[in-house]
Amino acid sequence: MTDSPLITATTAFVKEQLRNAEGGHDWFHIERVYHNAMRIASGEKADMTVVQLGALLHDIADSKFHGGDETIGPDIARQFLESRNVEKAVTNHVINIIRHISFKNSFGTQKFRSAELDIVQDADRLDAIGAIGIARAFNYGGFKNRELYNPEIPPVEHVSGKTYKNNTAPTINHFYEKLLRLKENMNTGTGRKMAEERHRFMEGFLRQFYAEWKGEC
Ligand code: ADP
Ligand code: NI
Repeated sequence: MTDSPLITATTAFVKEQLRNAEGGHDWFHIERVYHNAMRIASGEKADMTVVQLGALLHDIADSKFHGGDETIGPDIARQFLESRNVEKAVTNHVINIIRHISFKNSFGTQKFRSAELDIVQDADRLDAIGAIGIARAFNYGGFKNRELYNPEIPPVEHVSGKTYKNNTAPTINHFYEKLLRLKENMNTGTGRKMAEERHRFMEGFLRQFYAEWKGEC
């Protein structure tokens, strides 16, 4: 399948926007999410243009790297889509996907749901688990100058629908606070199947990590 001119233009725009992005949120993250989304969407009934645009634009300006501002990403995406004269309904749907895709925004009373959001959210979550997820977590931890692991700092359990934000915790803790929980939160059948395999890989990684930590193997 060849991409439509809109998808080609969006790809070029996103690549340019993410030129200096941190390794876990760069263009290649977008490309992987796009491919995951296409695979998941092949088993679902969904508007492919919305799925493609949602996957490409979902991290256009992550609030973590913009002082917590959650409006920059949606604003940049809207401006871009309007400049390409994209249908209003499609633009609004893509903006809703960007607003609601994030893990922290997906707990509690979900204000927006659609098949297309389900697909892009699964595709994004898959890139946070498995071998790639492990690589991204340690890359992010390094970016934040965190310890790999510290046996004296146990992971914080999930507290009443909110992820406990510990801004200095070792990277291994992030597996328990988020990554190992993603499998249970998949929206689609294909996403769930892919997540299960990646989940098992992370469990094996953690077993090996602790064994090596203690010099047991
Ligand atoms: P979302 O897109 O759902 O908001 P994030 O942007 O928080 O997800 O996470 C993006 C990537 O950065 C993921 O691979 C995630 O594991 C990693 N990451 C986020 N927070 C941490 C952390 N505290 N420690 C290690 N990795 C993290
Ligand atoms: Ni993402």
